[in-house]
Amino acid sequence: MSASQLALTAQKLVAPNRGILAADESASTIEKRLSSINVPNTTENRRAYRELLFTATKAAPYISGIILYDETLRQSTQGGVPFAKLLADQNIIPGIKVDKGAKTLALSEREKITEGLDGLRERHAEYVKLGARFTKWRGVIEIDSNDLPSDYALDVNAHALARYAALSQEAGLVPIVEPEVLMDGTHDIERSRIVTERTLHVVFDALARQRVSLEGTLLKPNMVVAGAKCAKQAGADEVADMTVTVLRRCVPAAVPGIVFLSGGQSEALSTAHLNAMNERHKSLPWQLSFSYGRALQASALAAWGGSPSNVGKAQTIYAHRARLNGAARSGTYKPEMEKERVSA
Ligand code: 13P
Repeated sequence: MSASQLALTAQKLVAPNRGILAADESASTIEKRLSSINVPNTTENRRAYRELLFTATKAAPYISGIILYDETLRQSTQGGVPFAKLLADQNIIPGIKVDKGAKTLALSEREKITEGLDGLRERHAEYVKLGARFTKWRGVIEIDSNDLPSDYALDVNAHALARYAALSQEAGLVPIVEPEVLMDGTHDIERSRIVTERTLHVVFDALARQRVSLEGTLLKPNMVVAGAKCAKQAGADEVADMTVTVLRRCVPAAVPGIVFLSGGQSEALSTAHLNAMNERHKSLPWQLSFSYGRALQASALAAWGGSPSNVGKAQTIYAHRARLNGAARSGTYKPEMEKERVSA
């Protein structure tokens, strides 16, 4: 796979009016989602839920790629069509989460390091055969009121992200580099700005040292927002301006696109923030897009509730959400669009 083919895949993933669905919840994370609707976390229920999302044809125009989990990439529709083929046939690029989750960092009281580098070259080769064309790795950075994150945690997570990205490109897979500064906590938006900026500087330094081609890489960052428990929450314009300021300072113009995570923001707020960025900042060097998990799925998951008779309704809700985020890609989303009648 040449560097130009990697760049082409990365550009397709950030094509206008489209974005990425993160449906790569690990078996333990999907357990939380399914238990919220009282559905048992069985292999078949996980498969049925993913089939609902992947066969929602009205969402397809707004979805450029879908990130799968190892189990999901090996699954098929009830009719026997492998999920990777089902997506590719709808012009949706299949991707795969390749990290093995955030574990306690040695000699640190509570910070985390993401594992999964051992054997990754071999897993990448298998994922290519199964139809994946891009990958994702998430590093987790926590802010606390005193001294976290430490330079130690930032350095080792950036190093792992770059090691992963280099291995991904070697296999012909576009890496989505996800250093997530968590929004848990009471910190204000200025603290989020400072920590996000520190994080991104260290990450891009590591990517350069490890020879990662930026043209064939996407960045998946958090937005700059106040902690979820901070009494003073910023408005959408302030979130948009501070996020763009940080990105301009840290992300080289060679990166084709930035695909935000939602991180616990509501569906409507995730859309409004992305929209404000694209409405207020028209000449940026990279595309600003989405790679949402909860912010694309929350209402659809609730509407499904585990019942086959609700599949159509849930798909309509998901497709509507995807369309609103598609509009946010060009700054043309309006809050009134939330109230559009959504019927199956
Ligand atoms: P959220 O949008 O729910 O934060 O999920 C995105 C993701 O892929 C986290 O790794």
